[in-house]
Amino acid sequence: MNQNKVYPASNDESIGHAADILKKGGLVAFPTETVYGLGADAGNYEAVCKIFEVKKRPVFDPLIVHVSSVAQARSLWSKVPKVCETLMEKFWPGPLTLVLPKSEQVLDLVTSGLPTVAVRMPKHEAALKLIKVFGKPVAAPSANLFGYTSPTLARHVAEDMGEKVDLILDGGSCAVGVESTVLQVEGEKGVILRPGGIDTETLSPFILLKESTSTFKQKPSAPGMLESHYAPHTKMVLLEKGVSGSKLEEMVKKYKALGVKKIGFLAFKSVPHKDFFDAFEILSVKGDLKEAASNLFQAIRKLDKMRLDMMLAESVPSEGIGIAILDRLRKAGA
Ligand code: TXA
Ligand code: MG
Repeated sequence: MNQNKVYPASNDESIGHAADILKKGGLVAFPTETVYGLGADAGNYEAVCKIFEVKKRPVFDPLIVHVSSVAQARSLWSKVPKVCETLMEKFWPGPLTLVLPKSEQVLDLVTSGLPTVAVRMPKHEAALKLIKVFGKPVAAPSANLFGYTSPTLARHVAEDMGEKVDLILDGGSCAVGVESTVLQVEGEKGVILRPGGIDTETLSPFILLKESTSTFKQKPSAPGMLESHYAPHTKMVLLEKGVSGSKLEEMVKKYKALGVKKIGFLAFKSVPHKDFFDAFEILSVKGDLKEAASNLFQAIRKLDKMRLDMMLAESVPSEGIGIAILDRLRKAGA
């Protein structure tokens, strides 16, 4: 990685330097508790254009605006229902993105022309400091190329787009490891548009959650919620729940018979038949879903570098943050 661009996120001087770049309309990749973000001044049209260019992201996929205070969030929204006050109080800073009608101040480019804007306050100290020192909201998608696996290390950002960002703040690996939960709030009710770092059980005491009505394939209510996303270059197949032992053996044999030579395995807790696979990664030996989430994208990226013909991903329990993990695995394999 080009070390000249990578600065320690824990250092105030680095943060000051990064904030200056944002002021000049440049791009800064920074750590958050979820994944690394690719940040630009949310109020600068040209700077936001660069995000879409560098990520090769279609302009119909809106960005999340990151804030360091509730007052900043308010300035981006036209009205804030009471239930959102509670959600901000309970879950900010943290991996919850709130989608509400936007104020006039928000650029249409940021929201892809939608009348709403997604806003979150990240929990990572460096991210918060950067926004504070910069003094204004920062638009930031995940700092990966569009459609590819999200970055949870500074190195991932450097590999994907190192040449094109002005500075990368290195804050080590991201603690949560999957992106924020995207919650659209309509009146006093909420719709989860993307499962993420804060699970449904944790949210539901504070807001009435409705089922999302659109199926993403036909009509994405969040344009970014396309079926295929987070995808490694290597073909990935998510195994159904409970596929292990002889079922797994059968499946591997079937693929081998079809001429698939090198198969990788992305395991939740353990690898049943190590000799079946040319490479494997284990998400959490303890079977801890939070640990699994924090290792997820790094493990996928590691396997993706092994020149495998395909990888099989084991299912994880569909509870808590496991729902977000399954969502990413399913989309990576779509
Ligand atoms: O954890 C995260 O949320 C990370 C870090 C960097 O903060 N960011 C992130 O951004 O995941 P991105 O751009 O990769 O994903 C943003 C998601 C997309 O699916 C997008 O479609 C949705 O949020 N989104 C943004 N604005 C929206 C809006 N106004 N209405 C509905 N969905 C929106
Ligand atoms: Mg993303």
